[in-house]
Amino acid sequence: MQLALTINDLRTLARRRIPREIFDYIDRGSYDEVTLAANRSAFDRYALRQRVLVDVSHRDLASQMLGESVSLPLAFGPTGLTGLFHADGEIHACRAAHKAGVPYCLSTASICSIEDVRAAVERPFWFQLYIMRDRGFVASLVERAKVAGCPVLVVAVDLAAHGQRHHDLRNGLSVPPRLTVSNLFGMLARPVWMAKILLGKRKTFGNFTGHMNIGTDVGAISHWINSQFDSSLSWKDLEWLRSIWPGKLVVKGIMDAEDARQAVALGADAVVVSNHGGRQLDGAPASLDALPAIVEKLQGSASVFLDGGVRSGQDIVKALALGADGCWLGRALLYGLAADGEKGVTRAIDIVRGELDTTLALMGRTSARALDRSMLI
Ligand SMILES: Cc1cc2nc3c(=O)[nH]c(=O)nc-3n(C[C@H](O)[C@H](O)[C@H](O)COP(=O)(O)O)c2cc1C
Repeated sequence: MQLALTINDLRTLARRRIPREIFDYIDRGSYDEVTLAANRSAFDRYALRQRVLVDVSHRDLASQMLGESVSLPLAFGPTGLTGLFHADGEIHACRAAHKAGVPYCLSTASICSIEDVRAAVERPFWFQLYIMRDRGFVASLVERAKVAGCPVLVVAVDLAAHGQRHHDLRNGLSVPPRLTVSNLFGMLARPVWMAKILLGKRKTFGNFTGHMNIGTDVGAISHWINSQFDSSLSWKDLEWLRSIWPGKLVVKGIMDAEDARQAVALGADAVVVSNHGGRQLDGAPASLDALPAIVEKLQGSASVFLDGGVRSGQDIVKALALGADGCWLGRALLYGLAADGEKGVTRAIDIVRGELDTTLALMGRTSARALDRSMLI
């Protein structure tokens, strides 16, 4: 792989390696992409406090997330269709994350199923659940996550309706991807991707295929999934989920302090301050801007993670200084995966780790666990 020094270098490589419709699916946001942009620019409004002549020769990036020791305060957040970015993408992503000592969270909308990934990696991963209309199917997914030994269930609650991504519609993105007249040249220009994905065996929603009573027809499955997003979801459903899931429960997609309080009151062990990476409510604030009020409201009663716009170790320092217990990364690691599979994810994590380590040193700090607001200007 060409030398990638930044997450943006990996993004450039990814753009070259995968077809445009897949790249856009990863990269873009909903509607006018106001929130997508805000997630990034919020980080730029904070400057880091430079302190000198402190002995920083021994630095420690390690932390804890939901009872697990992690080598740095970072997790690979749940992302759908990841097995279309690289063949068996979820397996490669999970292996890279685990080797780096950070958690991997598999999405309900993955290409490789829970069982595929469990069989291919050494230890259990986290699982992200969408609560769909068919609660029987949801309960069966929860059961499958239990059988796979997943210690953490992450319920994403910010999908009461689909935020429209104009590019996906214009590009005619479909699952599995199809060769069409308009995308033919783009796909032919990426022969490695094409051979592995279009001719490979896993290219549709692995957690659904063969697990419902509607057969294996891909069109029927996609239709069923789209019809399953449930706008009637309410706090009662969270109570129900808490009653059937004995492990750690994380509520993802919280942007409001009162919602965070309610989630924790109903038994959540953590919340993820998230606007789905600017892919849902366009016009929502940056997740970094929503973070401080949520941290203050929860007063340490549950862990608070942040995702959205994190592209560097410096970004992680800012989120930790504003009270996050860790950051979940989406696109930053997906660019690595699309650029070069497991090696690309490893490279992405190494880039962020190096930046975090150097940033701490130059701020006169030795631990990623001991940052506070006073470190920001
Ligand atoms: C391509 C892609 C697919 C995603 N799919 C899911 C998903 O299936 N479930 C989910 O909870 N969040 C999903 N997300 C949201 C991420 O978990 C996360 O909130 C977001 O990517 C964070 O923003 P960032 O990409 O700027 O780091 C997805 C994000 C991307 C970029």
